Amino acid sequence: MTRRKGADNFNRGLNADLALKPRLEFAINLAKEAGALAAQMRRMGVSIAEHKSSLADIVTEADQAVEQLIRAQITAKFPEDAILGEEGGSTNAGAELLWVVDPIDGTVNYASGFAQYAVSIAVVSEGDTPLSWREEIAVVSAPELAETFWAIRDGGAWLGEQRLQMPAGIPEAGALIATGFGYDPATHEGDLGRLRKIMPLARDIRRMGAASLDLANVAAGRLDGYFERGLQPWDLAAGALLVREAGGQVGGYRNEKASAKMLVAANAALFSSIQSRLDA
Ligand code: IPD
Ligand code: CA
Repeated sequence: MTRRKGADNFNRGLNADLALKPRLEFAINLAKEAGALAAQMRRMGVSIAEHKSSLADIVTEADQAVEQLIRAQITAKFPEDAILGEEGGSTNAGAELLWVVDPIDGTVNYASGFAQYAVSIAVVSEGDTPLSWREEIAVVSAPELAETFWAIRDGGAWLGEQRLQMPAGIPEAGALIATGFGYDPATHEGDLGRLRKIMPLARDIRRMGAASLDLANVAAGRLDGYFERGLQPWDLAAGALLVREAGGQVGGYRNEKASAKMLVAANAALFSSIQSRLDA
């Protein structure tokens, strides 16, 4: 784990407040502006710019343009901060605060005409991977749904002006649980095997196609739980803080942190039921 310059000072509280509040407001406005650009570009027609890990794993021109907008604005306003973005990699490594950006989470939905996509922006401290960092600020903004979720550590999770608080326990009818599948066909068998283990807990399953929104919907109490293997840091950074600040738990396999290996998010009771079934 890389410890960030000035992290000791930052953790003393006052500095943290002073540093984070202006970044929160800025991040909310930035995510909305970036979402508006994504939506506007989609109305003009989606162009595929490249493929990544497989033919299914696409990058559109909008992914690149939206990330460029986000990077340019963060760099202009907070030049001392580091940025890790899905399309542009990492800059200014070792800075005290790191912005973790997915310009369009749910790119396949975006390209296919579904509304379920979002701009995901987090600010983290203390490390540069989900195994080491601490999430400080989260914003997930879904332009076509006109919803912006946000959270600040110890300040709660919010959908616009409404504070989010997840319900406790497992519904008698079973839990509404979301998951996702990787783009690499070689991973599908394993992912389906894990889904089979979780199915007995579920009243129904959702695969909605944007991890940040799945996590936001857990925070909002619309979904009872969510699990997925193979998530990248930018898919999970903001959503994980939303769930924690709404009173939920986020982790990986039992006693592990959330990472590409596994992410589980739910209230305490369902969280431990999902983890024990995944371990079995
Ligand atoms: C993807 C979405 C999807 C999840 C994939 C992610 P992208 O992100 O969050 O729901 O199942 O693992 O890669 O590629 O649309 O930014
Ligand atoms: Ca993306």
